Amino acid sequence: MGHRNGLGEGLITGFDIRPATDDDWLGLWPIIETVTRAGETYTYPRDMTEAAARAMWTPPAPGVTLVAVEEGLVLGAAKIVPNQQGNGAHVANGSFMVGPAARGRGVARRLGEAALEQARVAGFRSMQFNAVVEANIHAVALWKSLGFDILATVPEAFDHPTHGLVGLHVMYRRL
Ligand SMILES: CC(C)(COP(=O)(O)OP(=O)(O)OC[C@H]1O[C@@H](n2cnc3c(N)ncnc32)[C@H](O)[C@@H]1OP(=O)(O)O)[C@@H](O)C(=O)NCCC(=O)NCCS
Repeated sequence: MGHRNGLGEGLITGFDIRPATDDDWLGLWPIIETVTRAGETYTYPRDMTEAAARAMWTPPAPGVTLVAVEEGLVLGAAKIVPNQQGNGAHVANGSFMVGPAARGRGVARRLGEAALEQARVAGFRSMQFNAVVEANIHAVALWKSLGFDILATVPEAFDHPTHGLVGLHVMYRRL
């Protein structure tokens, strides 16, 4: 499988995107653990246990986790869940992580596109990110390029380990 990247620079081969299975957890947890312990991009407890992470990242339907996999190795993942319950459940929420060794290859962009399609097919009307750290400039730019707008920024809502207090963006797009 391959795809053309966003810049039309040619064919990127090597990884596929598919729904995660139980067997993927072994490859997924080190990525989630690294991102969580770094404490730079998520509002998760930095000492979150593997069990808590697994409960979060293996959501019940209609939630789903997609993985990017290359030769059996998990490169990254996207989690799509309802952002609210009940009468707010038609808005999806998305979370994305790519392992440090696989970054800069377009994995997150393709996971983003796949997550949008997955959410659309599942019947969600829109997708919302509740807490995009404003210092995470590459992620913010990526989401904007995928059609998300910053609806608001909650000031000083995130205590970044090196930047100190920074804002959290609420980002949104219709599907
Ligand atoms: C943010 C993250 C998901 C990006 O994953 P990735 O697979 O490296 O991203 P991609 O390779 O698809 O790159 C997407 C775009 O961002 C740019 N980019 C990403 N990381 C970059 C970096 N460190 N320096 C410069 N540009 C970067 C790419 O150039 C690309 O732009 P383009 O498509 O216009 O060329 C990844 O760094 C990560 O998991 N970070 C920790 C968790 C996190 O921040 N998740 C998102 C929370 S909102």
